[in-house]
Parts: sequence; C-alpha cells; structure tokens
Amino acid sequence: MLGVCYYPEHWPELMWANDAKEMRELGLKYVRIGEFAWSRFEASEGVITFEWLDRAIAALAKEGLKVILGTPTATPPKWLIDKYPSILPIDVHTGTQRGFGSRRHYDFSSPDYLREALRISVLMAQRYGSNSNVIGWQTDNEIACHDTAHSGSEHAKQAFQAWCEHRYGNIEQLNHDWGNVFWSMEYPDFSSIELPILAVTETSPAHRLAYRRFSSDQVIHFHDEMIKTIRKHAKNQWVTHNFIPFVDTQTDDFALAKNLDFVSYDNYPLGRTDLFYANQPAAVFKPYMRTGHPDFSSYHFDQTRGISKGNFWIMEQQPGPVNWANHNPRPENGMVRLWSWQAFAHGAGCVCYFRWRQAPFAQEQMHAGVKRNDNSKARAWYEVAQMREELANIPVPVGEKVQTQVAILTHKTNQWVSEIERQGDSYNHEQVEFEYYSALRQLGLEVSFISPDCDFSPFALIVAPCQPIIDDALIAKCQAVQAHFVFGPRSGSKTSEFNLAPNLPPGLLQQLLPVKVLSTETIRPDCAETLEFANDSFQRARWSEELEVGENCIIDAVYRGGVSQDGDPAVVTYKRFTYIATLSCGDFLRCFFERLAEKCGLTCTKLAKDMRLTRRGDLTFVFNYAGHTQAFNAPQNAEFLLGSEDLAPFDVAIYRLNLG
Ligand code: GAL
Repeated sequence: MLGVCYYPEHWPELMWANDAKEMRELGLKYVRIGEFAWSRFEASEGVITFEWLDRAIAALAKEGLKVILGTPTATPPKWLIDKYPSILPIDVHTGTQRGFGSRRHYDFSSPDYLREALRISVLMAQRYGSNSNVIGWQTDNEIACHDTAHSGSEHAKQAFQAWCEHRYGNIEQLNHDWGNVFWSMEYPDFSSIELPILAVTETSPAHRLAYRRFSSDQVIHFHDEMIKTIRKHAKNQWVTHNFIPFVDTQTDDFALAKNLDFVSYDNYPLGRTDLFYANQPAAVFKPYMRTGHPDFSSYHFDQTRGISKGNFWIMEQQPGPVNWANHNPRPENGMVRLWSWQAFAHGAGCVCYFRWRQAPFAQEQMHAGVKRNDNSKARAWYEVAQMREELANIPVPVGEKVQTQVAILTHKTNQWVSEIERQGDSYNHEQVEFEYYSALRQLGLEVSFISPDCDFSPFALIVAPCQPIIDDALIAKCQAVQAHFVFGPRSGSKTSEFNLAPNLPPGLLQQLLPVKVLSTETIRPDCAETLEFANDSFQRARWSEELEVGENCIIDAVYRGGVSQDGDPAVVTYKRFTYIATLSCGDFLRCFFERLAEKCGLTCTKLAKDMRLTRRGDLTFVFNYAGHTQAFNAPQNAEFLLGSEDLAPFDVAIYRLNLG
C-alpha cells in the first residue's frame, strides 16, 4: 500500500480534483493532510473554517483515496501566540524565548497550550471522527523534533519541582540521591529547585537525568491527552504518530508509542546519513552518499517496529533531495523504490511519500516532491509507478509481524546517560548501537529492538550495546530465559540516580557474571590500540575498561599494547553472559557475533558487501546497495517473484521457497 503527503491549502482549489485523479492513477491509496493548517482552520480565535477541508477530503474521496488527518498542533498560529506568549518555549542553551515563524514553537509544560491544542483537536475530531473517508489520525507532527522536548520556562520549572516532590518525597532524599553535598548544591525545599540549565559549569548528572525524565514525561502526557481526545470522537478510526529517529525525540519512545494503534516513521535516508556521517572521512561516507548506509534505514525501521503494536507505516519518505541536511544529494536511480521495498521487508504496512508536489514557496522550496512545482513529474514518480506495478503482483504479507531470534535491548536512559556524562567525546550512543546492529545485519540476522519491559522469551540472543542503569527486575528477567546475553561497556555502571555502582561497575550485572571494572579510559578514535580475538588482531579505541575477572570465566578477547598488561581480559563470558569491556571495530563485532550465533544455534547468511537479506512471512528480500551488479546464492527451491540471483545496482530481489 502506498500513500502521499499533500497540502491542499498550498494549491488553488481548481487543482485538487486532478491531483486526486493522478494520485489514484499512480497507485496511491492514502493521503495525509492537515497537519500544519491551523491558521486556515481558525484564522482568528473561534472563527472556524473547516469547509475547505471538507471539500479537499471530498475531492480525494471521489478518486477512492482515504485520508489521514493530522492535528495541526505543531504550528500554533500567530494570534494564539500573541494571546498567550508563554506558549513559546525557552531555549535551554541561552535562556531566551524561542520565537514564532517556523514550527514546533510550543512548550510542553504550558497549560494554555495543552488546553488550546486539545480544543482544536476536539473540533477536528468532532467534525471528522465519523467521516468514512477519513481512515485515521496523525497526532501533531514529529513530536519533540527541532530540539523541543526541553524548555527552560517558568512553567517547566514549576512542573519539574512538583515532579521531583512526587518522585523523591522529601528534600533530604533528593539532596542525597543527587549528591548535592558536592559543591554545596543542597536545596532547602522543592520550591527552590532550579532547572539544570545555564549554570556556570556542569550541573549534577543526577539532576540532569531527572530533568530528562521529567521532560520526557511532559511530552508523553501532552501526547496521551491528545490521543484520548481524538479517540472520544473517532471511535472507528486509528491513531498514529510520525516518529523521528529515537535519538532525536529525547523522550522514552516505548512509552510515547504505548497508546497509539501503531507507529509511523518518517524515512529520510540521505538526509540522515549525511548528518550521521558528518565527521567521517569521504572514504567512509561517499559510497553511501546517494543511497544511505545499507543498515541505516532498516535500523530505524526495526526500532520503529519495536515500539509499534502491529506493523508500522512510513508516513513520509524522501522522494529526491531534501533541504535540511548539511548537503542534500540526489538519490541514485532506483533508491526510492529500494527504500520502499526495504520498509515493507522490515514490517511496514504502507509507504507514503513526502510530498506530492514540491512547494514553490517558503522553507522547503528546495525539497523534492513526487511532482515538481510546475506540476511536471519528478524522477520519483516513475519509481512509485514501478512500486504500484510490483505491489500488484507481490502480496506483501502485511498481516505478518517480522519474527526474529535476535534482539537489541535499548532504553532512552542509555542515551541520556552517555550524553550527560561524556567522559570521552567519541562515545556516541547512536553510533555504538548502530555498530552492533550493523554487524548483526551483515551476518543476515534479523534484529528486533526491545526495552527491559518487553518479553525476552522469543530470543536466542539478546545484545545490550550499553545498558548503564540496570535494576533487579532486569536481572531476574535475564535469569529466567534461555537466551545468551551480551552487554557492552558501561553496562550496569550507574544506579538509577546516576551514582556509580557501589560494588563497582557493572553493578548488579555481577549477579550474572563475575567481573568488576577497575578503571575506565577513553581515547581518541584515531589512536586505536589492539584487541586480540580468535588469533586475530582488531582495533579498539574510544572507551575501554580494565577488568578483574572471577574464576570460571572464559576470556574471549584480550588487550594488546597500551597501558594494560598484555593479555588483560577485554571480552569475557560466564555461562550465558558475555561482557565486552571496550568499543572496537566493525570487523571484530562481525567475527565475534558470527561465532556466537553458531553457539546460539542461529544461521548466518553472509552476502557480498552492501547486499542485505531479510525475511518477512514466507518472503525473502535481497537488496543490492552497491553501484555494481552483485550475485547471491538462493536456495534451490527459491521461486523468484522479483529479480534474480544477479542483482543490478540498487536493485531488489524477492523470493519464496517452493515447499510443494
Ligand atoms: C519532516 C517533516 C515534514 C517536512 C519534511 C522535510 O521531518 O515532518 O513536515 O518538513 O521533514 O524533509
């Protein structure tokens, strides 16, 4: 199923009917509209004009298209801001108010904004909640994007004080938990608590972690209220939200997604790759400049699937160059199609393209559309048309959840801890997690993302690249299943209030394997030293720990050179539990997981570089991200529905096994 994002308010009404007709002809079924149109729904307070939206929905419905309606709450209009100026958030880096004139200019702690956002959402839900042409809702838009989860406002401060009182009960407890005796930071009472911003030098990490937890709760509360409001009036329509990459929400994504029917994701592989690789040399980045890294989109797809109840949607997909990365290349020919198939392979139920027609005005006029601003067909049009043809012949098993035996254990606090306590500039949470993910994917292993609250029982291998805060419940869950667990450096190193584990890191993990971290060092990534594994040498840098290892541990890998004694343990295993004490390189991770997978009874499928394979239902998908033809070996009874064992550049093959 395919769809598109459309802005009828940007175009003369005369064009709507033909747009709808062309959308149908292109094989699109769904159209998302409305998410930024508040000033056209309510040009001044209480003057509601939904008639144009009625007509836009009708024009789309006439061609059989179903509408997803966005609540316009990412863009409060000027009159509303003028009436309640404290809706505008306070920048936590400068202490100044963020202004009107773009989007997301609201403070999650503003009571005025919560009320107003719910008011406009109710009006929409009352009007369209039983309109059979509206199939579902998108709450807001990319919540917390543009660094908006945090605000330094008076409203935020008061709400934070109340949040602290609720969490800690009395001020002595808070002072104790945050270590406020250090530097005379003790607070006399809850009403004197500051936000951890704009101080002279760094504030207490426990204070900052509390503020991140609080801010996340504020976002979730705002969002949950909106979902509830829509549901009251839209009983037979679903509610979703278009997520951005986890690393950018600054919110507990599992909790944020909890009350949605399913989750959507906005997929911008080139823009994201450009930002992710901004500090990497051209030799690393350039091969993926026009394709995105083969694992980068799927990393986000698999994360999205992890927080979604059923399958997920791609609510926006890049159709050509975007306008917001450091550089904005054109995709290779074929990539719009490849990304679409890759999303389906990893569990998507629908892929929508952003946007129908390139805007001739305002901030995104350099952002490609399926059509150009003169209404001619852009390159993406032809790839979407190809998708229409291919989807007609290949039944994507949309009812099937992707099944995996490998999971990555993740939680937002992992990111928060590593951002709050830098220790080394080259420890980047997203990069570390991605390295583990990519190593597993290069072995052809499908991966799920789970939180400590998820069911662990389906998995044979559970990998926690970094899980600094671990509680007794997690230890009990690890003990209760049969999976092999791998914990990366920093795991178990902190208490829930960001103090060092009293029994030394990895803290509570010592109940699972007898290791202690005696000291930790961080070194520059370009000053790598040696890690020896399976008689081979690999690189380790960035973050390394000195271990004391108990009896009966197997030492899998050792340090060579550097300040450590030659042969000091770097990776150790005790029964079903492995601890990796250093950040290393992709080659090591691949080698290590290949051996471990075998022990866990998992079958690896290694393909040529930049080819990836994934399975959903009875279909196997193979992708060639390389700019040259590459071959793979399919099983003898493979029945190809698309492509063949020889894959052209940027091409896709799909087969199923003929069991008859
Ligand atoms: C998304 C956003 C859209 C549009 C798009 C441009 O992040 O939801 O409204 O701005 O980026 O790539």
